[in-house]
Amino acid sequence: MNKLSDKVAIVTGAGSGLGKAIALMYAQHGCKLIATDINSDRLHKLSEEITSAGGTVKTIVADMAIAQDIDSMFQLAQNTYGTLDILVNNAGIMDNFDPVGDVEDAMWERVMNINLTGPFKAMRSAIKIMEQKGSGVIVNIASVGGVAGARAGAAYTSSKHALIGLTKNTGYMYAKKGIRCNVIAPGAMNTNIAESIDMQHLSPLVNERIMPGMALMSRASEPVEVANIALFLASEDASFVNGAVIVADGGWTAY
Ligand SMILES: NC(=O)c1ccc[n+]([C@@H]2O[C@H](COP(=O)([O-])OP(=O)(O)OC[C@H]3O[C@@H](n4cnc5c(N)ncnc54)[C@H](O)[C@@H]3O)[C@@H](O)[C@H]2O)c1
Repeated sequence: MNKLSDKVAIVTGAGSGLGKAIALMYAQHGCKLIATDINSDRLHKLSEEITSAGGTVKTIVADMAIAQDIDSMFQLAQNTYGTLDILVNNAGIMDNFDPVGDVEDAMWERVMNINLTGPFKAMRSAIKIMEQKGSGVIVNIASVGGVAGARAGAAYTSSKHALIGLTKNTGYMYAKKGIRCNVIAPGAMNTNIAESIDMQHLSPLVNERIMPGMALMSRASEPVEVANIALFLASEDASFVNGAVIVADGGWTAY
């Protein structure tokens, strides 16, 4: 049952949705956690849940758009547990479904910083630790927006496509060093991600071009259905899975 006994994981965006489901599941499987988020109340609740169930967690408020915050979460892992085995780059935000002609610089930069540059910096730090110990697992969370063109706006779609490319490059480059790097591309999940969408200000093109495709979705998943994949990828069950993109969308992109 304990698939991650005594492993140490950083899970970003762990206060809600998929990140929370992954943190709870990893803790149930014996993993010692560094849980990060920008929302301290959510981290507090997560910490209580994990601790009351007998798990081990340290939390830190860390914004993936701030390099110093990313450094701090690695320092906390080193200071608390002395090592790191698993990095889950889960924190992410939506854009406003804007097509390229409507994307403002601020939106582009914010989405890229949180969804791509932050995960890249975290991977760079994780790789240094993992290379030294000759083992490690990175699980990135992309989206079906990373494998198809119209599940979100131009910024989100670009950020998640790039995260998938970064994952494949990393998986391949470090494959002989005992490090695996994979990415999950979920379809719609029942989480709080809509908090980062301003539904009042959607471009007219969104209704015409993106929304009809939403009707092809069979349903949205519960976060735990995707967390199961993150557990598999972090565990020895996935010892030969590397550089892979695992789509979990109930068949949406099969159309
Ligand atoms: N919900 C979906 O339909 C869906 C579909 C495909 C992919 N995803 C991806 O799943 C991942 C998790 O999203 P979710 O659906 O659980 O959303 P969520 O909003 O429920 O949870 C995301 C968490 O990340 C935190 N967060 C936001 N900005 C942050 C930042 N700058 N630094 C650190 N933490 C930050 C939020 O406070 C929140 O607790 C994201 O990468 C998202 O792109 C979600």
